[in-house]
Amino acid sequence: MDRIVFTRGVPPPEAFPADELAECFGAAVRGDTAVVLQYGHQQGYGPLREELAREYEVSPANVMVGNGSLQLQDLVAAHLVRPNMVVYTEQPSYDRAIVTFRRRGARVIGIPLEEDGISTERLEEALSREVPAFLYLVPDFQNPAGATLSLEKRRRVVELASEYGFTVIEDVPYRKLRYRGEDLPLMRELDDSHVITMSSFSKLLSPGIRVGFMLGPEELVRDLTRLGENTYLSPVLPTQAAVAEYLRRGWLQPNIEKLKELCRPRWQATEEAVRRELPGAQAFIPDGGFFVSVMLPEEANTDDLVGRAKKIGLVLTPGAAFFADPDDEGATPGDRFVRLPFCAVTPDQISEGVSRLASLL
Ligand SMILES: Cc1ncc(COP(=O)(O)O)c(C=O)c1O
Repeated sequence: MDRIVFTRGVPPPEAFPADELAECFGAAVRGDTAVVLQYGHQQGYGPLREELAREYEVSPANVMVGNGSLQLQDLVAAHLVRPNMVVYTEQPSYDRAIVTFRRRGARVIGIPLEEDGISTERLEEALSREVPAFLYLVPDFQNPAGATLSLEKRRRVVELASEYGFTVIEDVPYRKLRYRGEDLPLMRELDDSHVITMSSFSKLLSPGIRVGFMLGPEELVRDLTRLGENTYLSPVLPTQAAVAEYLRRGWLQPNIEKLKELCRPRWQATEEAVRRELPGAQAFIPDGGFFVSVMLPEEANTDDLVGRAKKIGLVLTPGAAFFADPDDEGATPGDRFVRLPFCAVTPDQISEGVSRLASLL
């Protein structure tokens, strides 16, 4: 079998709603030409912000739409981080977020992730030492580990944010891809006074359209809008207008259902393969999203795992990339951590890929 690629947290190409998006692009560009093809709407395309404001029960003044959520994440970091400030993340966390925060001058410290989300005890210990510029969490079906933050811990995190006075970024691009169980509230629904929420249409429609959004306090949105304007002048309005049209036509939920139908057997195949091939590993099996992950046993041979995997046609992301600096003196177990994004690979590839991984250990 060909190369099996376990590096990409992306929707499979067969899931892209190409015809529907093309229709929406046409309608948006023809229907609102003077706005959509011009500079402007620096805070994001007005009708899309209004749709999002309705969904999340906020004012459009609290909504900013940018060129992907990663760009908004970068603007937030540029705005909130002063040299040598600390940012806390889960350990492990989304690798690009760690890179982005470091580039903006933060010391990024990872607080251990447990099966039900970040360790709030370790978070509190860290807070008693130093209050961060912000805490960055992926509370639903986390990238990279797959964990979901429990309701109890969501409550505790917003309490701590209030008590110590810091901002929490909840980044939820996978939230709508739940395969089993019930949604937990967003942290902003518990207490929005210290919470910025970020999400994206990358995982639900297409990453290429670069439409991501942020909900936050009006003043912060205003400051970031100015920063964005001084960076890229204006966001990409035709794609934002196409998404607004897509939402207006009520096509998002059916597309999410289709995507879940496609991903569910892949999720099941990954769990089966991990249980069968890696019985000694600690597996995180999520209730949704794109990622299963495993922590390999200490005795596993992880020397140059990524290099050896490549030689047998298995492409992995180095586990260490997902680890920030530790919150104690201990070593980070990054070499034993393997992320398995399952949505863009078929069940046969998953089975073969996990078996190749097992053969290396
Ligand atoms: C947790 C998380 N946040 C943000 C992003 C980036 O999203 P966007 O394409 O909207 O920039 C990703 C993409 O993998 C992600 O996993």
